[in-house]
Parts: sequence; structure tokens; C-alpha cells
Amino acid sequence: MTTIRQTSMVNPRLALLTDYPFQRLQALLADPPGQDPINLSIGEPQHRPPAMVAERLAAGVGDWGKYPPVAGSPAFRAAVAGWLARRFHLPDGMIDPETQVLPLAGSREGLFQVVQVVCSAETIDGRPPVVLLPNPFYQVYAGALLLAGAEPVFVPATRDSGFLPDFAALPDDILSRARLAYLCSPANPQGAVAGLDRLQGLIALARHHGFVLASDECYSEIYDATPPVGALEACARSGGDCANVLIFHSLSKRSSVPGLRSGFVAGDRTLIDAFRRYRSYSGTALPLPVLSASTALWSDESHVEDNRALYRAKMDLAEERLGNRFGFYRPAGGFYLWLDVGDGARAAQRLWREAGLRGLPGAYLGRPDADGVNPGSPFVRIALVQDLDTTRRALDRIADVLMED
Ligand SMILES: Cc1ncc(COP(=O)(O)O)c(C=O)c1O
Repeated sequence: MTTIRQTSMVNPRLALLTDYPFQRLQALLADPPGQDPINLSIGEPQHRPPAMVAERLAAGVGDWGKYPPVAGSPAFRAAVAGWLARRFHLPDGMIDPETQVLPLAGSREGLFQVVQVVCSAETIDGRPPVVLLPNPFYQVYAGALLLAGAEPVFVPATRDSGFLPDFAALPDDILSRARLAYLCSPANPQGAVAGLDRLQGLIALARHHGFVLASDECYSEIYDATPPVGALEACARSGGDCANVLIFHSLSKRSSVPGLRSGFVAGDRTLIDAFRRYRSYSGTALPLPVLSASTALWSDESHVEDNRALYRAKMDLAEERLGNRFGFYRPAGGFYLWLDVGDGARAAQRLWREAGLRGLPGAYLGRPDADGVNPGSPFVRIALVQDLDTTRRALDRIADVLMED
């Protein structure tokens, strides 16, 4: 029998992962808070969830005794396909609910799994497959690709690039090895939104080089003025073919139910079929009562409009309190302030020690570039996820603490 030599009991690739940002934050903010604590570090909406969630969960109580199907229920898939068509102006029949939609236990799960669906441990000309991602970025992307043995190519998403990554500017020898690119629009943490041209260009690039675009659109419903376009909308506007494109959506932010763990992936039929096969072994199927609540949520817009109005009111307060200080700008989408405070870790510590505010140092969301510069370092991320009064108190304290510098 072959002996596999392994120096430790655990997968050595796990050592490639930094501690998750919230573990790091725990260590940074070990001191007691200066005032009653307010958590603005995690993108976990605290708005009241719509009543239909509790109603549907209660009505579905008889279904806890059943294993749910990996592909979800026909009603869920139809509600998602209908929402996609309405929201992104898709022509009739462009998204077939039976073959192009799959439920996810939150978009995070799918964003992690997509690397395994798309990449194998193959080498290309003796080198590993490449995954492209923005920098700073949602940390799950890096965890997924590093564990899969892929090579990350971090592409700056800084003020100079409009806070979005310019994948098209990468050299051909990288693009030819790319198997997957993550785009987050609206972007976490910067709130930038990719326009139609950029999305169409990126989809053309993906098809040319044969990689998959994983379009993370979980903040698409939290916008300031204009509904962000999505990758499927870009496909629709270029003839309706979804080849190479997967979009990831979630109810966590749209409907303020991060604890429900409900999202979906949709797009390219071949990729969705592969995803279904993968998830029939690995995935967490959504319980039937959760599918039922999710179906109701995707079919209703009024609670989403209320939600958006509340975020706008909080952005108004932020604009009033912070004005044009700390590089404040009103993000086109999402609910984060991305404040340029010079040293984000120091600011996060001061906000905690002096004012009991938990924000997230931008450096925890970025990786140092070839020159050792982490593009997130000057920033602190403030998640406006609390209610209006709490947000008002928090913003007053932020202005007080940061103004003292
Ligand atoms: C950019 C981004 N993508 C995906 C997710 C995952 O959200 P969920 O798994 O709740 O759908 C988050 C959560 O904060 C996020 O910020």
C-alpha cells in the first residue's frame, strides 16, 4: 500500500489562510469599550425582517421531517427566475428555472464552492490555475481558491481604478491560465458599482480566455440612486447568452435575514448542472420551510423598498455628520462607509477604546501587493447595519473621535 507522507494531521493549505477578519478584530479590540458598545464591524443587517418570514416558517412546521432536495422547490426556482427577469429586464425564457437556478445556504456557500466546481488540480504549462479577485475583497474568495490549490491574482480596486478591479489590463500569460474571476458589484467594502460596459467587457474577456465570471451581487438591492446592473442583464443586452457567467444573490442584505441562510446561484446552464452535481455530494440543501419563506421574499418588493429607504436615511445622516472629511463619499451601492483615516487599524482601536464603536480595519480585507502595500490599510470600514437612532449616536461618536486627530 502507498504511504502518503504528511508532516501534520491537517491540510497544509490551511496555513495559507490568515485568520478571518473578525477573529483578528477580536484580538485588536481586546480592551474594554470606552462607551456602550455598538457593532458596525460586520455586514449583518439589524433591520426587522418582514413578518412573512415567521409566518412561512411556522406554516412549514410539518416539513422538518423531510430531507430537502438539493435543487430546492419548483416554487422557489420560479420565484427566483421571475425576480431576475423583472429586476434585470431579462427577455422571456432567458433563465429557465429548472436548469439555470440553484438555491444556496447563503451566497457565501456558493462563492466558496464555485472554485471546486470550476477548477481542478490540473496544472497549465506546469503551473496552477489562476483565480482573479479584487483587492480589497470578501475574504471567502481567497479561502476557497487557496484551499483548492489555485493561484490568486489580486487586482487593485483602489480609488485610482474607480474602486473596481481592471482584469482586462492583466497580461495574457495570466489571463490564459485564469479559470475563474470574482467580481463584487456593488463592491464590499467600497460600494462601487460596475456599469454595463464594464460588465459586458468582462464577460467578453471571460469567454475569450475561457474563464468563468463569478459575479457576487449580494448588495444589488441596497443602492442609493440607480439600481445596479447585473451580469445577467449584461448578457441580456448582448444577445441573451449566459455562457461563462454565474451570478450569486442573497436574501441576507436584501431582506435583512442573514440568519435565514438563503441565496442562489444562476446563469450558465452547463455550470449550474455541474454545481448541482457538486452540491448533491457537498452542499447544504435549504430546508423546505426556509425555501417557502425565501419564495415569499423573492416575490415581494415592498419590504425591499422600505429597507432601501432606511439605508438612504442612514447615508443622509452619515453625509451630514462626516461631510467631506475622511474621504467620505456616498457609495453607489451597499451599506458600508469606507473612510480614509490614514491608519485604519489605529482608528478602529481608538473608536473602540474611546467610543465603544466596533469598525473593521480595511487592511483585514486586503492583501499586500508586490511592494508590500496593503490597499486597505488607510481605511476603516463602517457597516451601517443598526437602526436609525443607534446609527445617529454612532456617527456622532465617529465624528468626535476622528476629529480629534
Ligand atoms: C461581498 C459579500 N459576498 C457574499 C456575502 C455572503 O452573504 P450571505 O452568505 O449571507 O449571502 C457577504 C456577506 O457579508 C459579502 O459581504
